Amino acid sequence: MSTLTDTLTFAPSDAVQRVVRGSRRAQQPASSADLVSLAVGEPNFDTPAPIVEAAAAALRAGRTHYAPAMGEPALREDLAARIDALTGEHVDAADVLITHGGTGGLTAAILAIVNPGDKVVIPDPTYSLYADLIAMAGGITVPVPLAADLHWDLDALEQALPCAKLFIFCNPGNPTGIVHSAEELTRLGQALAGTDTIVLSDEAYADLTFTDAPFTSALSVPSLEGRLVYCQTFSKSYAMTGWRVGYLWGPSEIIAAAARVHSTANGSLNTAVQDAARVALTDCGDDIAGMFDAYAQRRLLMHDGLATIDGLQVSSPEGAFYLFPRYDLDVPSVELVATLRAAGVAVRPGAEFGAGGEHHLRLSYAASNDAIETGIARLATAFQALR
Ligand SMILES: Cc1ncc(COP(=O)(O)O)c(C=O)c1O
Repeated sequence: MSTLTDTLTFAPSDAVQRVVRGSRRAQQPASSADLVSLAVGEPNFDTPAPIVEAAAAALRAGRTHYAPAMGEPALREDLAARIDALTGEHVDAADVLITHGGTGGLTAAILAIVNPGDKVVIPDPTYSLYADLIAMAGGITVPVPLAADLHWDLDALEQALPCAKLFIFCNPGNPTGIVHSAEELTRLGQALAGTDTIVLSDEAYADLTFTDAPFTSALSVPSLEGRLVYCQTFSKSYAMTGWRVGYLWGPSEIIAAAARVHSTANGSLNTAVQDAARVALTDCGDDIAGMFDAYAQRRLLMHDGLATIDGLQVSSPEGAFYLFPRYDLDVPSVELVATLRAAGVAVRPGAEFGAGGEHHLRLSYAASNDAIETGIARLATAFQALR
């Protein structure tokens, strides 16, 4: 271990201390050999071969130099065309910023928008990175509890939104696995009419929805127009978590500010990875469909398995690859997760995603059928012993 010299005292910056003080994000302990993990938020598929081949070919062809700060123009054009299809209007590729994954996009957007003391409303529970980034920016997180069905409590949101600089949400939801409908999104936009609240829609799981109605991106909701920042990532749809490629789109002024944060903190994204991302968009339809079918089947396997366990109230498996059951034991979720781990199954405590997530567990079905079956059996045994 390297230590400081005797004459030097060090305390992390205030920004780091704010994050450390408030963060609910838990580091997963190391896994033991017999542990079945239903805890991980990433596809258990490898990246489709055409994407890997494209990156290798790009590297061999000498695509090893800096890319432009906002991203490769060809990739930005491809993504602008995708966004066109969702907004129904032509969007300018100049407003697309390629980012280091969804994380880089969220970081750039939040640090570009939020000043110290600004209020930022988030649903509770939600993806835990949002509150950490708000803390890093010096903003004030205003968590608004979800309704019992894990959809937004729109009345509560309407109460909280006035005075908010920003509202951040993910759709489909992590950790809830809920898909917010066109009606919910429209009502959100209506509640904001006349305000200067910006909306950041993180649609990392947009390709993984299982509802009867087709998925509605916030991009296609007229009442959100002009205040919407859209954040997307290749991580989940294309099994590309390790590649670190995502993007932002929104009003030019906001994207320019986010680009300033991103180029200051990250620099541009790997050149060959951007070439490979273009191939993901065009050549991987069959791979994506195959992964979707596997998730669709695993989702039922997990849902039906959980439904047999006494003391668990299973959530609606609408999207992403998560279920967020409520349990009726009088034990905090962090403690329950430790007990379940000792019983051989790793899941995430609901409280990691906000106070409103307490008495819930987050389970991921981005795991093999075997892992799901064994994990559910262990959960059932553990719950029987605890009741
Ligand atoms: C809702 C949501 N947004 C963004 C991310 C981060 O995506 P990336 O891996 O591209 O940084 C995650 C990762 O789990 C997520 O669940």
